Amino acid sequence: MQNMLEEIRKKALTELDAVTSGALLEDIRVRYLGKKGEITSILKQMGRLSDEERPVIGAFANEVRTYIEGLIVSKSEQLDKLALEARIARERIDVTLPGRRRDLGHRHPMSIVLDEVKDVFLSMGFEIAEGPEVDTEHYNFSALNMPQWHPARDMQDTFYITDEVLLRTQTSPVQIHVMEKKKPPLRVISPGRVFRKDEVDATHSPMFHQIEGLVVDKGITMADLKGTLETLVRRIYGEGAVTRFRPHHFAFTEPSAEADIMCFSCHGSGCRLCKGEGWIELLGCGMVHPNVLSGCGIDPEEYSGFAFGLGLDRMTLRRFGISDLRLLFENDMRFLSQF
Ligand code: DAH
Repeated sequence: MQNMLEEIRKKALTELDAVTSGALLEDIRVRYLGKKGEITSILKQMGRLSDEERPVIGAFANEVRTYIEGLIVSKSEQLDKLALEARIARERIDVTLPGRRRDLGHRHPMSIVLDEVKDVFLSMGFEIAEGPEVDTEHYNFSALNMPQWHPARDMQDTFYITDEVLLRTQTSPVQIHVMEKKKPPLRVISPGRVFRKDEVDATHSPMFHQIEGLVVDKGITMADLKGTLETLVRRIYGEGAVTRFRPHHFAFTEPSAEADIMCFSCHGSGCRLCKGEGWIELLGCGMVHPNVLSGCGIDPEEYSGFAFGLGLDRMTLRRFGISDLRLLFENDMRFLSQF
């Protein structure tokens, strides 16, 4: 009997070692310690032993039972810990990128488009700059050649925290932060959230996203601006994509323009997608205004630059044929899991 118990102990150790699930563990517990289990049946046969053998074997049987119980408890703890670790890994969320579930292979449609745009600019030697979402009216307006009295401020009414501190209405203030910190040559893009006092509907949101671009160096001209933006458009929309530049006004650039892309659905004849225009507005751009450069301590006689700002949300809607801007922000898995 002693030998049998010794065998059981060894067998239990090997079997328990290999256990990978709670169900298997319970199986083993029943097989050894249950009512009809191997240890239990040995204990039941104690009556057949002689008076000398009984206490010795009995003590040993109890020892083996305690040993197996101990193994089961520690295995169970080990399995619980593994299950918890797996759950934590499964439920871990990448908070740096909204809506991005790498583990499921899904990515937010806006992250997809943003990464494409970033790739294009990084390959042209641009760096990525970040700026604050809560900024001052100085950076958001004044330093961008929009003094307090400037009527263009009204077009970008925003959320004020105090008279001076506000939620930025555009990513353009990052231009100022960059130019104050670094000296030319500068080549940066700056994606980020911006805020305006807009009612929510299918095409408007009080929070949306822009990608700002800024290049400052000696001898930068409008040709550099056009070449750079055409490269972007071709890489994103295909080699056949056609762009046009329309004169426009922005206080912080002179001259200023808006760039359109020829409608890729109707190729210029006018359709629902382009609202009959034949062209789709893509971004605002221009040559950095001398006042803006000199305000940042950069001599406009020596340096020149171009800047642009494009709307990431609308670009994403067009790219995937999404009809309602709200879908981008509602975090509805039925929508997000399609990407
Ligand atoms: N900040 C402008 C807006 O939100 C967009 C823009 C226009 C950015 C021209 C620029 C630029 O950098 O040069 O309407």
